[in-house]
Amino acid sequence: MRAIVCQTPGGPEALSLRDIPTPEPGPGEVRVRVEAAGVNPIDWKTRSGLGAAKSFGGKPFVVGWDVAGVVDALGPDTDLDERGFAVGDPVLGMARFPSPDGAYAEYVTAPAGHFRARPADLSVVEAAALPLAGMTAWQSLVDVGHLEAGQRVLIHAAAGGVGHLAVQIAKALGAHVIGTASGAKHDLLRELGCDQVVDYRTERFEEVVEPVDLVYDLVGGETAVRSFDLVKPSGMLICLPTVAVGAAVAAAEERGVRASGAYVRAGGPGLSELLRLHADGKLRIRVAETFPLERAADAHRLGEQGHTTGKIVLTV
Ligand SMILES: NC(=O)c1ccc[n+]([C@@H]2O[C@H](COP(=O)([O-])OP(=O)(O)OC[C@H]3O[C@@H](n4cnc5c(N)ncnc54)[C@H](OP(=O)(O)O)[C@@H]3O)[C@@H](O)[C@H]2O)c1
Repeated sequence: MRAIVCQTPGGPEALSLRDIPTPEPGPGEVRVRVEAAGVNPIDWKTRSGLGAAKSFGGKPFVVGWDVAGVVDALGPDTDLDERGFAVGDPVLGMARFPSPDGAYAEYVTAPAGHFRARPADLSVVEAAALPLAGMTAWQSLVDVGHLEAGQRVLIHAAAGGVGHLAVQIAKALGAHVIGTASGAKHDLLRELGCDQVVDYRTERFEEVVEPVDLVYDLVGGETAVRSFDLVKPSGMLICLPTVAVGAAVAAAEERGVRASGAYVRAGGPGLSELLRLHADGKLRIRVAETFPLERAADAHRLGEQGHTTGKIVLTV
C-alpha cells in the first residue's frame, strides 16, 4: 500500500510517500481502507521527534491517527456483533493512538473498539476531522473538568481543531462559553455558540472576562499563567499542550489554583456522544483545507503555523 512514512524525525521534508506492506489485522482488530485522514498537532510534533515519537525507539513509522474509511477485513476473533458496523461499512475513529503505524496510508489496522459507524450525513472528510480533536475536547470538559449547565468556561484557541468542537460541546452542556481568537474568527465563534468573544491580539482577556468555573487552555505558557486570576476558588484550569502542562500546574499550585493536564485516550469516551450531538444538529465540524495524501508535508507546513480555523484533512 501507499503510506506517508517518517523515516527519521525532522521537518516536513522527513515525510515521504512509500510503498510498504499492507498491515494484517490482529486478534480483535479490524482493517480499514482509509478514505481520509485527519491532521493534528500531535502528528507534526511526533514527526519532529517529540510527542509520541519518544516511545517509537527511533524506528520509521507511518504518521497520523485520525481516520475515516470502510471496514475492509477482520482479524482472528474479531466480533463485530455489538459494534454497529460490519465489513464493507463506513467508519471513523482514532486508530491505535499513540502507537505507530498510523492513518496517513491506504489501510490501517486497530482494535474494533477504536471505531464507530459513520452516519450517512457526515462526509468522509468531516468524519476524519472529528475523532482525536473531538474526543480530546469531550474527555477534557466532561471527564476532567466536570463542566455543568450554568457554569462559565473560558476556551483559549476556540477556533482551532480542538477549540471549535469544545465550544459546541460546552454549549450543548448548557455552559456560558467565552472564546479567544483573533478578530477575523469572531463571527465563526459566535455561530458556534460563544456568548462572549475576546481578541487575544488586541485585548487582555483577564481584563474583560468575569471569573469562570473552568479555563480550557489550548495555548499554554503565558496564556495559562494570565488565566489563573480568572479561575473561581471552586474552579480549575485544564492545560492541553503537553509541553506546557508541568509549568502551568506548578505555577497554579503556587497560587492555590487547581490545574490539570488532560490526555486523550483511544477507545475512551466521547466519540459516540459526539456523533449523537451531530445527529441532533448541535455539532458541526469545520474543515479549513484538504490535501491529497501525497502532500502531507504541505498539510504539516500549514498546520504548524498555528492559525488553522477548524481542521486540516488528507484525502486518500
Ligand atoms: N493532551 C492531549 O491529549 C492533546 C490532544 C489534542 C491536542 N492537544 C494540544 O492542544 C493544542 C491545540 O490543539 P489544536 O488541534 O486545537 O491546535 P490548532 O488547531 O493548530 O490551533 C490553532 C488555533 O490556535 C489559535 N491560537 C494560536 N495562538 C493563540 C493565542 N495566543 N490565543 C488564542 N488562540 C490562539 C489560532 O487562532 P488565531 O489564528 O486567531 O491565532 C488557531 O485557530 C496543541 O498544542 C495540541 O498539541 C493535546
